[in-house]
Amino acid sequence: MDVFDGIATKLDVRQFGPQDVPSEVKQSILEAARLTGTGLNTQHWRFIMVEGKDRLKKLAEDSTSGAWVAEANFAIIVLTNPKYKFHMIDAGRVLQSMQLAAWNRGVASGLFTDIKEENLRNDFAIPQELNITLTVGFGYPAGKLTGRKKDRMPLGELVYYGKYGNQMTA
Ligand SMILES: Cc1cc2nc3c(=O)[nH]c(=O)nc-3n(C[C@H](O)[C@H](O)[C@H](O)COP(=O)(O)O)c2cc1C
Repeated sequence: MDVFDGIATKLDVRQFGPQDVPSEVKQSILEAARLTGTGLNTQHWRFIMVEGKDRLKKLAEDSTSGAWVAEANFAIIVLTNPKYKFHMIDAGRVLQSMQLAAWNRGVASGLFTDIKEENLRNDFAIPQELNITLTVGFGYPAGKLTGRKKDRMPLGELVYYGKYGNQMTA
């Protein structure tokens, strides 16, 4: 898939079908994470692969905005080190890498950020020094995604030319 097409067609999905994602596709998603750049090449992030109904259910219970992850085929918890001021930028980059690598193989994904931190740390043995930055759930989408459209502002409302407030003309 062309990179631009991937960006243009990817939606965040919260409903997944029952089919298993092959391990080779999972591996390519993890590889995409590994290959993504971090500030100063620190590679401070760590990833927890979560598979199996019981563990996904536990992950859903430990979230306050991601109950849907219980139905995902697998999930990846992204941990970053807050001692680096750019750690959240790194998290955003790796999230997009993994989501696009997945979508390239027809695998949809969604993320959540709101958690019951104490519970999640205990249930997944996450050390205190790492920030639990986000979790992505993956799976084949349930049903067709063709009915859903992106809801985005037009460029004219987002982009200025030269200085803030200057209209950009095409
Ligand atoms: C920083 C960030 C945090 C998000 N947190 C959640 C979340 O906690 N739960 C959730 O279901 N979706 C979450 N989302 C998904 C957004 O709701 C989604 O990206 C947005 O609605 C656009 O979706 P679309 O690309 O399908 O149009 C989050 C997205 C981002 C970028």
